[in-house]
Amino acid sequence: MNELKKRFFWGNSTSSMQTEGAWDQGGKGKSVYDIRKATPEVSDWKDGIDEYHRYPEDFDLMQELGMNFYRFQISWSRVQPKGEGAFNEEGIQFYSDLIDALLERHITPMICLYHFDMPLELSEKYNGFLSRKVSDLFVKFGIEMVRRFGDRVKYWITFNEQNLYNQWGASTFAGNLHKKEGINEVYQIAHNVMMAHVQVANYIHEQTDCKIGGMLAYTEIYPATARPRDIQVAREIQEFSNNNLLDVFAEGHYSQAVLTHIKNFHIDAGFKPGDFEILSKCRSDYMCFSYYRSTVVNSEKIPENCSVDDYLKYGGEGNPYVEKTPNYGWEIDPLGFRDILNKIYHRYQIPIFPIENGIGVQESYYNEEIQDDYRIDYMRAHIQALKDAVEKDGVDVIGYLGWGLIDLPSSAGDMRKRYGVVYVNRTNHDLKDMKRVPKKSFYWLKAVIDSNGKNL
Ligand code: BG6
Repeated sequence: MNELKKRFFWGNSTSSMQTEGAWDQGGKGKSVYDIRKATPEVSDWKDGIDEYHRYPEDFDLMQELGMNFYRFQISWSRVQPKGEGAFNEEGIQFYSDLIDALLERHITPMICLYHFDMPLELSEKYNGFLSRKVSDLFVKFGIEMVRRFGDRVKYWITFNEQNLYNQWGASTFAGNLHKKEGINEVYQIAHNVMMAHVQVANYIHEQTDCKIGGMLAYTEIYPATARPRDIQVAREIQEFSNNNLLDVFAEGHYSQAVLTHIKNFHIDAGFKPGDFEILSKCRSDYMCFSYYRSTVVNSEKIPENCSVDDYLKYGGEGNPYVEKTPNYGWEIDPLGFRDILNKIYHRYQIPIFPIENGIGVQESYYNEEIQDDYRIDYMRAHIQALKDAVEKDGVDVIGYLGWGLIDLPSSAGDMRKRYGVVYVNRTNHDLKDMKRVPKKSFYWLKAVIDSNGKNL
C-alpha cells in the first residue's frame, strides 16, 4: 500500500506583511499595506507578530513541533525599497540570517516572492501589475533573490494564490491602486503576472538546481444539482480559474477555452509578440495550492449572457451538506481537499504540494491552555483526506503546510481570526507582550508529525 514519503514535508506557511512588522525598520520601503489604516474592526499592518525581531524564538517553537519545512515570503519593499533600482543590503542580510536560522534547526525553507504587498512606489508610478514594466521589474527582483539565496534555498514559488489575479478585484492583489478595473484590465493583470512567473521559473530551470512550482487558491466548486447547466457552469469556473493557470505551470500554454473566450468577447488581454513562446517553456517541479473550503454554484441564479467571469458572483451559494467553521461560516470539506489533490495530480502527474490549510477562529487567552478541539478535528480530517489521496488514490503528495501555525492577523488585518496552534498575545489595537503560548492543537500536531502522520 502507498504511504506518506519518509521525508514528507510538515510545516507552516506565512506572508511577510502578516508576520514581520518592523514596517519602517532596516531600510524597508513602503508597501501598499503600509498605508492601510486601522479601523474599529481591523489593525493596521505596522507590527504583524513582530517576526522581524522574534523569528529565532518562533523557529525554536517550529522545531519543537517537529516541523521540517517553512514557507515564508520575501517582502519586495524590504529588499528593494522602491521596487526598482538599488537593493537594500540590510534587508537582504535579514533574510540571509533568517534562512541560516532555519537551516540550523533542520527546517527546509521555501521562498514565496509576492503576497499582494506591492512596493508603494510601483503602485503609484505604474499601477502595479497592470503595467508590463512592473512585471519586468518583478523578474529582475526575483532573479536577484534566486542569485542571492539559491545556494541555500532550493524550493521557490513566485505568486501566492496566482488565480486571484484572474478575477474581479485583481487590482487589490496586483497593487493597481489608481486605475479603474474593467474586464480588459483584469485579463492584462493576469497575463502580466503570468509572464513574471514564467520568466522567473524559466530562469530557475535554465540556470540553477532549484525547484519551482505554480501556486493557486483552489476552492472546490460543486454544481448545486445534477441539472446539466449546473454541471457545465461548475466546469467552466474550474477551467477559467484553475486549469487555465495550471496548464501554463505544467505544460506552458493557456487553456483553449479561455483563449477562445478572449477572442469571442474581443478582450484586450495584453498579449505581446513573443509572449507565447516564453510561456511555452514553463514547467513546474510541484503544483502548490491553498485549500480552506468548498462552495456551490447554482446556474438558475446566473443571468442570461453572463460572462463566466461573473458566474460565482451571481450563482454562488451555501452547501447544506457540510459543516461550517464557527464565527466565519466557511465550509469544512476534507473530501473537497482529497478531490483537488486527485484532480491536479491525475491531470499532470506532477508532485502535489498543498501549502496552506487551516481553520480561522476567534480565541482569547486567559492564562490557561486554549482547548482548540475544533482545530484538531479540522486538521485531522484534512490530513486523513490527504493520506487517503496518497494511499487509496495513488496521488504523489510531497508535504502538508498549515497556514499561520503561529497566530497572525488575517488577510483583512483582523487579529481576532486565528489559525495558529500557537497563540500570540496581541489584539487588533493592543500589542500587549506578543507572548507565544502553545494551544492544545500544538501537542496533537506534534504527535502527528513525530509519527509521520500515523497518529491522527
Ligand atoms: C490565503 C492567504 O488566502 O488565506 C492568506 O494566502 C490568508 O494571506 C489566508 O491569511 C486565510 O484567509 P483569511 O482571510 O482567513 O486570513
